[in-house]
Amino acid sequence: MNRYETIANNLATQIREGLLPAGARLPSLRHLIAQYGVSQSTVFRAYSLLEQWGLVRAEERAGYFVTKGATVNETVRGEGLATEPRKVDISDLVFSVLESARHADIVPLGSAFPSPQLFPTARLLKSLVAGTRSLTPWNTVEDLPPGNDHLRQQISLRYVGTGMSVSPNEILITNGALEALNLCLMAVTRPGDLVAVESPGFYAALQAIERLDLRAVEIPVDPVSGLDLEALQSALDQHPIRACWFMPNFQNPTGTSLSADKKRALVELLRRREVPLIEDDVYQELHFSRDRPLPAKAFDTQGLVMHCSSFSKTLAPGYRIGWTAAGRFSDKVRRLKLMTTLSACIPAQAGVADYLEHGGYDKHLRSLRSSFQSQLERMETALHRWLPSPVRWVRPTGGYLLWLQLPQSVKAMELHALASARGISIAPGPIFSATHGFQDCIRLNFGHPWDNRFENAIRELAEILDDPSIHG
Ligand SMILES: Cc1ncc(COP(=O)(O)O)c(C=O)c1O
Repeated sequence: MNRYETIANNLATQIREGLLPAGARLPSLRHLIAQYGVSQSTVFRAYSLLEQWGLVRAEERAGYFVTKGATVNETVRGEGLATEPRKVDISDLVFSVLESARHADIVPLGSAFPSPQLFPTARLLKSLVAGTRSLTPWNTVEDLPPGNDHLRQQISLRYVGTGMSVSPNEILITNGALEALNLCLMAVTRPGDLVAVESPGFYAALQAIERLDLRAVEIPVDPVSGLDLEALQSALDQHPIRACWFMPNFQNPTGTSLSADKKRALVELLRRREVPLIEDDVYQELHFSRDRPLPAKAFDTQGLVMHCSSFSKTLAPGYRIGWTAAGRFSDKVRRLKLMTTLSACIPAQAGVADYLEHGGYDKHLRSLRSSFQSQLERMETALHRWLPSPVRWVRPTGGYLLWLQLPQSVKAMELHALASARGISIAPGPIFSATHGFQDCIRLNFGHPWDNRFENAIRELAEILDDPSIHG
């Protein structure tokens, strides 16, 4: 990435997020030279890139000004109010989209997983061997739920890293975060109950609601500020909501996070009504800022927050090791685990435990986050280059997912079909809501090392966007 591209990307982010609103003047040449320690010509190249992207216009002798409509706040907004409770019918749509993204030769912009190349496979294998060697035949019994002691201690220590205290006794090892989330939902609901979910939100929450014959109440998520707490409060006033399933950190698909104050307010709101929160926190360790964000669970004093996470996004997707710290529902969740899949894989638990203790997890995470950050910059530059200014997004501060709002006339399902035919997967907006809304949105994955394949895929998406058949 060139210096001028980095400067342009940083200014573009400030513009899209409204820190530099429409009509505002860009920081002066002198200011940017001093701030970045670069030459005058580098700053000029950054200005002209922004002009090319349609985000600013030059006025003779006056400087550069932000164009109207460049700010994300004017365009990418949540849908406003919570929906009425509804039955969910999403699985067929989700499966048809996921199926088309499974082939190894497809460009995986629609995938929910980062590149396996970024994981320390060889080091992990060493830990798998060491961990498995340390097992005795008795471990088949001893490591039944709640799971391997060593692993639960190591996970408990990671909570200490954020200043939280979660006892190993509260931790239950599961087959990935998805099982943890599903077991938690089963523990606190019965068929017909209402569950609040985010909109747009992770489709697996909708699928779980569909499978368990529950009803969804969708709460809007603003791509800048996150979950709309006012909409949640009024939904709680109107409906007997039995549980919430939310992602306060690096939400899938928008990438947005709640501030610590909003997390505290969310937990307090749910405490007053005794409504449990199932917290999906699979991207927590993938923060771009220096400090790991706290989960909502950090503000819970009543055991109402069921914190769920895994190593699937950060270390070892195939090992299927996740966990929940389910507060006052821990016993119930553990019994459900025993009644459904009995146990998580015992060698994999031992292997991950050994890796956490000896493998250099924090070092690996630092390198993973830095790869994602630079891949995000490359993707943003390609988007600016190939997709014209009506395409909007908010730069995520962690994770590897980018939520794009396309021109309003776009039909994302048609875009998805044409892109698949060209060997490119994208995740179309409608799979992220029970109402199949967000027709003009798509989610892209920047969790893969950037190369020509990705650059060309973005260019091809731009070509498809010119096709009249994908516009309604
Ligand atoms: C937001 C979110 N939560 C949970 C999961 C499931 O995680 P795991 O693979 O650990 O089951 C995924 C996987 O795609 C996800 O994107």
